[in-house]
Amino acid sequence: MPTVDWNRRTWGGTHSWERDGDEWAHMASYCGQPYEEWKAGLVEELLVPGAVRGTSLEVGPGHGRWTEHLLERSDRVWIVDVNESCLERCRERFADRHGLNVHHTTGYSMEPVPDASVAFVWSFDVFVHLEPDVIVGYLGEAARVMEPGATAVIHHAGKPDWSLRLAPVNRRAGRPGRIAQRWLSQRRWRDDGNRSDVSPEAFARWAREAGLEVTGQRTSWGPDGRYTVDKYRDCVTELRKPS
Ligand SMILES: C[S@@+](CC[C@H](N)C(=O)[O-])C[C@H]1O[C@@H](n2cnc3c(N)ncnc32)[C@H](O)[C@@H]1O
Repeated sequence: MPTVDWNRRTWGGTHSWERDGDEWAHMASYCGQPYEEWKAGLVEELLVPGAVRGTSLEVGPGHGRWTEHLLERSDRVWIVDVNESCLERCRERFADRHGLNVHHTTGYSMEPVPDASVAFVWSFDVFVHLEPDVIVGYLGEAARVMEPGATAVIHHAGKPDWSLRLAPVNRRAGRPGRIAQRWLSQRRWRDDGNRSDVSPEAFARWAREAGLEVTGQRTSWGPDGRYTVDKYRDCVTELRKPS
């Protein structure tokens, strides 16, 4: 499972960031769609409706692939990341934009973000790599900073619940067990995309325990659901803080 330390080393060190995040075109090619259309559809259908008013907050902006679109629509945007180098790249890339607020977190704190001040929380390609305790921490923090009626869109791992119950048994079986576990949970023999052991059901349960409503869970968007996060069997959960 990817730890906070792994996330720090990978995105603050080994990853090349050659296109500031747009290098991740594999989800679009997996569903047979051009990357720019896949991305534009995601922005229009899932980011724009939430980002059109007040303050937005993004967890794990990386080099600002989605931050750019939040900044075009929200009065103020908080970005929260474990890597100072990612925040620095966003500061530099968006130096001429108003309303960017930056927080370097140690894991899941959003400490400087005031209570009930955020209208929209967005995170894509981040929670897929977060362990359950960090996700639970973030959902608690999201519930604190969201204003009543605020919404959130969070992309996370979507392994089937039943397959995760077999994980401890397969782990004990060494390499063959790990391969079997990948097949059961993601229908993949190799390359699990460093997804954490999280199911849609567990994510929804943790969100409800944090006091948030789950308004939807999906794996696709666009006409006929042609754009997907199916490559690694991910899920996108939509949340709302009760008024
Ligand atoms: C795969 S990159 C995705 C970046 C961006 N969201 C995108 O889609 O282009 C993961 C990002 O999440 C950040 N990250 C990882 N763990 C985090 C955590 N616990 N809290 C905040 N950010 C985290 C990384 O530093 C990196 O910026």
